[in-house]
Amino acid sequence: MKKIGVLNKYDITVKRGIIGDCGEKIREISNADIAAVISDDNVAPIYLDTVTKSLQRAGFTVYSFVFPHGEENKNIQTVMKMVEFFAKKGLTRTDIAVALGGGVCGDMCGFAASIYLRGINFVQIPTSLLAQVDSSVGGKTGCDLEAGKNLVGAFHHPSLVLIDPDTLATLPEKYMADGMGEVIKTGLIRSKKLFSELEKGEKYENIDDIIYECVKIKAEVVENDFTEKGERMLLNFGHTVGHAIEKLENFSGISHGMAVGVGMVMITKAAEKAGLCEIGTADRIIGLLEKYGMPTETMHNEKDIVAVAMSDKKRRSNTINTVLLKKIGDSFIYPIECEKFEDFLKRS
Ligand SMILES: NC(=O)c1ccc[n+]([C@@H]2O[C@H](COP(=O)([O-])OP(=O)(O)OC[C@H]3O[C@@H](n4cnc5c(N)ncnc54)[C@H](O)[C@@H]3O)[C@@H](O)[C@H]2O)c1
Repeated sequence: MKKIGVLNKYDITVKRGIIGDCGEKIREISNADIAAVISDDNVAPIYLDTVTKSLQRAGFTVYSFVFPHGEENKNIQTVMKMVEFFAKKGLTRTDIAVALGGGVCGDMCGFAASIYLRGINFVQIPTSLLAQVDSSVGGKTGCDLEAGKNLVGAFHHPSLVLIDPDTLATLPEKYMADGMGEVIKTGLIRSKKLFSELEKGEKYENIDDIIYECVKIKAEVVENDFTEKGERMLLNFGHTVGHAIEKLENFSGISHGMAVGVGMVMITKAAEKAGLCEIGTADRIIGLLEKYGMPTETMHNEKDIVAVAMSDKKRRSNTINTVLLKKIGDSFIYPIECEKFEDFLKRS
């Protein structure tokens, strides 16, 4: 078992099989009567029974709310149904919500918990690789609006994060690859050791250690910059370009993790040509992405990518804060004037 403390507020535990003991662990941090478990219709049939039984053994009265899976249901209507469910079941300020699922579930459950009775506690039991290495840590909660992704939400920390790598056995491969996009990004921005181990190891070898390493790094970054004014921006490496590619495909083509992978390659090739990054870095990123069956290029041209990327950013300022690598494991923020961004990217 490996444990990390975040902001002196909550612990993250990585342990195989911990889902079966979640009740006991949650009881250590909560004197709630009711535990309201939120899950989606893919995850609930596999894990809800185990979680419910464990919570009941620990003396909680358990109610569960299951929503239809997928990003298309990550909206305010689903969040409102969660909040109404809390009210209908009579949750009080001392009761607790439990998010059992991927990033969609964790983000919405956390948001519902942040607004119900002006905030109740919640626990994250992330079951996708992306949620285990990234979204369950850091306190960002929310949902999508028609105008765009994650446009409404709140910073609300979980009281506990319980990560059980055994749950990845049932996660479809395409979501494993998606989570690996974030893992590779974590190595690139902060840990040469993690990146080299991924290069050397077999696919998904030592996944428990990899998860622990990613969570530790995310916790450190969040700890230094909770509200994303500085260092936390490094976590967005590859995201400006990646997000634009996702948008060009109406969020129904390339997945988020894969788009970020392509974004990391493009921006690093450009940085190498501009003399800002060690030569050969982009090739190593390409090699690792290919190992995990991820794309390394896109059919969209730089002009279109930049136009989409700028449509969000231009309103605020004339510069775009791009995250670049000096070398593997060493990242920095490089402001580029908006009108120069296309030329910069064209070097890729
Ligand atoms: N809060 C943050 O800091 C943060 C960071 C990154 C991403 N996110 C958000 O996370 C979301 C993406 O997360 P995701 O990829 O986990 O999506 P997801 O929750 O939709 O999960 C992906 C799919 O896998 C299924 N699934 C999850 N765990 C499973 C398991 N163990 N076995 C079988 N099926 C399983 C889900 O039902 C779903 O179909 C996005 O909405 C994104 O905005 C949030």
